Amino acid sequence: MVKVYAVLCLLGLSIAVSNALNNGLVRTPPMGWLAWERYRCNIDCEKEPDNCINEDLFLRMANLLNDNGYAAAGYDRVNIDDCWPLHNRDEHGRLVADPVRFPHGIKYLADKLHKMNMKLGIYGDYGTKTCGGYPGMMGYIRKDSETFASWGIDMLKLDGCYADVKLMNEGYAEVTRALNQTGREIVYSCSWPDYQRIAGMNVSYENVAKHCNLWRNYIDIQDSWDSVTSIIDFYGEPKNYRDFGVVNGPGQWNDPDMLILGDYSLSKDQSIAQFVFWCYFSAPLFMSNDLAKIQDWTKEILLNADLIAINQDPLGRMAQRVSASGGREIWRKELADGSVGVILWNRSTYGTPVLMTVTFAEVGLSAGRTYCIRDLVTHVNSHATTSFSTYVNPAGGVIALKVSQAC
Ligand SMILES: *[C@@H]1O[C@H](CO)[C@@H](O)[C@H](O)[C@H]1NC(C)=O
Ligand SMILES: *[C@@H]1O[C@H](CO)[C@@H](O)[C@H](O)[C@H]1NC(C)=O
Repeated sequence: MVKVYAVLCLLGLSIAVSNALNNGLVRTPPMGWLAWERYRCNIDCEKEPDNCINEDLFLRMANLLNDNGYAAAGYDRVNIDDCWPLHNRDEHGRLVADPVRFPHGIKYLADKLHKMNMKLGIYGDYGTKTCGGYPGMMGYIRKDSETFASWGIDMLKLDGCYADVKLMNEGYAEVTRALNQTGREIVYSCSWPDYQRIAGMNVSYENVAKHCNLWRNYIDIQDSWDSVTSIIDFYGEPKNYRDFGVVNGPGQWNDPDMLILGDYSLSKDQSIAQFVFWCYFSAPLFMSNDLAKIQDWTKEILLNADLIAINQDPLGRMAQRVSASGGREIWRKELADGSVGVILWNRSTYGTPVLMTVTFAEVGLSAGRTYCIRDLVTHVNSHATTSFSTYVNPAGGVIALKVSQAC
């Protein structure tokens, strides 16, 4: 009896909120900076003051975003990841930021960012503990949502360690409702689909999109080209495109994880490649790097206005792989103005540039007319009829094009 009643209750709830996520936020992909990939859970600020998770890190990065043109280009969010709180809640059950590393508390950081016209994101976990072993939201969903809202938080990344994946459909939706009930506009980033994928469950992305503004669907990015290509491969799989590629759009974004440009592993061509793919995916653009140490050429890629415009295209379509053979791939992305974005990618390590050709028919454009081809990295326009050919560097080189009726 009790069981049946509980099931009916759950059904009732989920029917009542079947269009719950109507928060009007992130109609184009969010952009900013996120601590995890570069700074992990390094809490030893005594030994490594410039390389640890504390208030100073987030203020430094906010100032660098603001002073060096990133915020003006759209990177207006600074997001805290794991390892910010104390291990114990206070006597009222509230989360508490580590007072040594965050001496003024989280609200102080949020206020500082808001004065700079920027936004602050925070991290939590749906389970009993975060992946790093800090307190999770299980049993505290309403309380923590209210705490985040009272601090002025603008985005929540909700991880899924120490949780039963079978409870996530209902549990992540409960957080959606709790965030909504705070009355504060909080962008909601969910790790839910990735945990269910890992557990071998089928994920309903239609349902995920009703409850989350963005969501992770694949493993964490690491500082390596192999990691970047494994994510691109996952996004290119036709089955995955059918499952989640088609769901991408305003307010509901697939999140292939952070940009690692400016870190240790990628060559210049590979850095351009990661940025190009993330832009053509209409992915959230969160850098995880040390903005104080970034090279000029890396900064130039991150601030490429032609590519950012592709990322922020109002249609929000995710790029789709058209062909892949011999290490050469062609991808296409529909754009709001009827143009088509095209990526030519040479991932082969056979060390010489190769001539690649894209026919306009294979990317869905009608034949027999002349198109304007804009190279979004060199910013050079040219014209072509039927097809376009160009040399592409090996080991990760990409050519990023926008094909339009007219220049
Ligand atoms: C809460 O949900 C309602 C209904 O979907 C929506 O109209 C409203 O904007 C939401 N409020 C916030 C703060 O997200
Ligand atoms: C997932 O969906 C596929 C296709 O509908 C089905 O064959 C498979 O049994 C499902 N797997 C699980 C674990 O539900």
